[in-house]
Amino acid sequence: PREKSFDGSYLYQYQGFWYRSIYIAGMISAHRHFQARDSDTILITCPKSGTTWLKALTYATVHRSRYAIEHSPLLTTNPHELVPFIDHPAYYLKINQSPTTSIFGTHIPYSSLPHSVVDSNCRIVYMCRNPLDQFISHWHFMLKIAQDRKMEPLSLEEAFESVSNGIQGFGPFWEHVLGYWKASLDNPHKILFLKYEDVIENTLFYVKKLAEFLGCPFSDVEEKLGVIEEISKLCSFENMKDLEVNKTGRLLPDRGPKNSDFFRKGKVGDWTNYLTSAMSESLKILMDEKFSGSGLTFKLS
Ligand code: A3P
Repeated sequence: PREKSFDGSYLYQYQGFWYRSIYIAGMISAHRHFQARDSDTILITCPKSGTTWLKALTYATVHRSRYAIEHSPLLTTNPHELVPFIDHPAYYLKINQSPTTSIFGTHIPYSSLPHSVVDSNCRIVYMCRNPLDQFISHWHFMLKIAQDRKMEPLSLEEAFESVSNGIQGFGPFWEHVLGYWKASLDNPHKILFLKYEDVIENTLFYVKKLAEFLGCPFSDVEEKLGVIEEISKLCSFENMKDLEVNKTGRLLPDRGPKNSDFFRKGKVGDWTNYLTSAMSESLKILMDEKFSGSGLTFKLS
């Protein structure tokens, strides 16, 4: 079966999730070619849940002794270039060329991960976001892509219908989140489960937690020198969105999204500006139903 994506292109179902065909090809390629090493870190999200931010925070944290903040590659290179996706054919080439890269990104659901990611001792950091903000962020992102490519995007009402049926790229959203949530409960040393809203509220605490989880905790001296604050400031929405590299250029040279499309508002609760009360009520009911009994809750504002 195929269904319309928010940008008007088509999504196809594969192993229980919905994808544009290029991502199915990318996932198959990742299964064939990507071999996770014990020292690797894989950053995983459902799209529009804070991928770009998580990549920046992790890159800055892990490489903090290699680059002083004022020389950070993040100042001149988009986080998606520094932390390549394993499941995008264009980045797969790059992975081959950079055997020293140890941080990777993907949107692949837990049940479809390459075996080496699950079986090796590599670490996974998963970031999720409340479903209402994720939906609004995703819809805006796809709208920009559709305008750029002169396609016919879905209206907000049509996109809402799709999401209510679990249909969006890498959806159903709740299956994606629950897959990693349950796996993180089973194996907390392998999977760190973060929520965008928590990290917004207490960035310093979570940067510290991230460093501890990845086996590179901040020393007392670093803490006193304010390194955690510096990393948090470097990666903040306000700083990242105004960097020249993130205002210009594209993710992939050929028709990829603009780097600037990854920086919109960076707030919790923007859904209140777009969803009617009937829409938000319906999504909240669906959310309660899907997450009931899991112990997983979300801050909506
Ligand atoms: P909004 O559309 O709600 O603004 P992803 O990186 O997974 O594609 O997610 C994009 C979302 O994260 C967008 O949300 C974007 O603005 C937000 N974002 C990008 N960089 C961020 C940062 N440094 N801090 C907080 N949010 C950020």
